[in-house]
Amino acid sequence: MPLINEDAPALPMDAQGILELAARSMFQLFSSVSQGMFLVDRSGRIVWVNEGYQRFLPALGFSSVDQFVGRTVEEVIPNTQMRRVLETGQPVLIDLLTNKAGTFVVSRIPLRDETERVIGAIGIVLFDHPETTLQPLIGKFALLQRDLDDARRELASQRSRSLAVSGDGQRRAKYTFASFVGSSPAASEVKRQARRAAQSSSPVLLLGETGTGKELLAHAIHAASSRASGPFVSVNIAAVPDTLLEAEFFGVAPGAYTGADRKGRDGKFKLADGGTLFLDEIGDMPQSLQAKLLRALQEGEIEPLGSNKLVPFNVRVVAATSRDLAALVRDSRFREDLFYRLHVLPVRVPPLRERRSDIPALVEVLGEDLALRNGTAPPELRPDAMALLAGQPWRGNIRELRNVLEQAAMRSDSQSIDAYQLERILREAGVEPAAPVRDALTEPGPLGDEQRYLRPLAEQVAELEQRAIAAALKAHGGNKQATARQLGISRATLYGRLENPE
Ligand SMILES: Nc1ncnc2c1ncn2[C@@H]1O[C@H](COP(=O)(O)OP(=O)(O)OP(=O)(O)O)[C@@H](O)[C@H]1O
Ligand SMILES: [Mg+2]
Repeated sequence: MPLINEDAPALPMDAQGILELAARSMFQLFSSVSQGMFLVDRSGRIVWVNEGYQRFLPALGFSSVDQFVGRTVEEVIPNTQMRRVLETGQPVLIDLLTNKAGTFVVSRIPLRDETERVIGAIGIVLFDHPETTLQPLIGKFALLQRDLDDARRELASQRSRSLAVSGDGQRRAKYTFASFVGSSPAASEVKRQARRAAQSSSPVLLLGETGTGKELLAHAIHAASSRASGPFVSVNIAAVPDTLLEAEFFGVAPGAYTGADRKGRDGKFKLADGGTLFLDEIGDMPQSLQAKLLRALQEGEIEPLGSNKLVPFNVRVVAATSRDLAALVRDSRFREDLFYRLHVLPVRVPPLRERRSDIPALVEVLGEDLALRNGTAPPELRPDAMALLAGQPWRGNIRELRNVLEQAAMRSDSQSIDAYQLERILREAGVEPAAPVRDALTEPGPLGDEQRYLRPLAEQVAELEQRAIAAALKAHGGNKQATARQLGISRATLYGRLENPE
């Protein structure tokens, strides 16, 4: 059988002809398989959008192509990086773009004339629901984004901490018990225990999942203790390489090393003298150091590296871990004697899912804080969105809640967030949304119900509409055409309501 079909039209023979044909085919291919394409001219003005791209226009706030074409690209597509492509002439083959219309996987390619000058650029939306099509990649991205946010926050708080170092060079606690938001039974109980611990001088052990507020409580315990006027010094054991930990804890005697450390260096025990030493992530402590820490706690003395003198210290230790310390003891990875030494006053910090009724208050406080830091409006959550928050398992606890609110604030455009939008944000943050829980948040009762109805009718109708739209969209997996049909409204009306809920 012949490998080549003799009847098929032949390729052009010249290289230029083949190239032109390839370019045309590729353009057509991209145009048909991508979710949308548009072109900008050299000055960054939109000159053309294809059929596919037009369905993003309502979510970007435009009801017709005429309103969109002719405007500069950053005016109509928030967060676009198109300008960079025009300026540098470098393509961006794959990128994630997030704005009020959602998160998209995009490509940006410069267009050049025969003399290689950039005369415009083409923007391609490769995927419009990356959270479903590219789940592993997006999950990883969300994780990295979270780590980056954490690192930024830590940097900001270290900066403010160094500003908080008072004139006499002392390090002070950043938080008090008032900073621990929550009045649920679980939150009240943990504050009660921590307050009691603050009165004692024994070691305190804070146990709880990641992001539950252990560090915040350590600060608060110090601030409420008789050592409040002394320093608060913390060591994150997981963040210091094992080989450096001993020097970090106990210091280095002068002359112990040549070079930079010749003069000796104070360890954290010394720096915390008269105050509190917070040993964060104590479960990550190497075994060799566990023995030395135990000895120090038992004797009340430390031995700096390279010294043979024991130095007494006056420090109250607060330790914390998100690991199961008892299990580490069972596996012989944490010394039992040290565990009991630290376990004098254990405080279990409850996860957010055990105190869901604190969520509205936390949303309020975290939202205000985000608004202050980022210069955005605090996100306003509708009741259905709040109920959705209450239903989530919150594995990352308050930190995770904060990240979701930050995403919401970035998207909100000052409009309030409903459950449908929030579900999208949760998915993009790598969380598969669980069902909403309304009862955890509202106080049921006849008065509550009556109060609900004693509001402007337009507001109640708008709320009902939003709930109906969210439910129908969910039932149809986000398919807007089916949603509109079910609700008996036109697609344009649906887009209008999604864009402009009131
Ligand atoms: N009850 C609370 N009220 C207000 N903010 C809180 C509360 N608990 C925690 N936060 C905030 O949540 C974030 C995480 O808290 P924190 O760092 O204290 O948690 P953690 O338990 O030490 O977590 P990890 O184990 O991951 O270190 C911080 O920004 C903190 O200010
Ligand atoms: Mg911590």
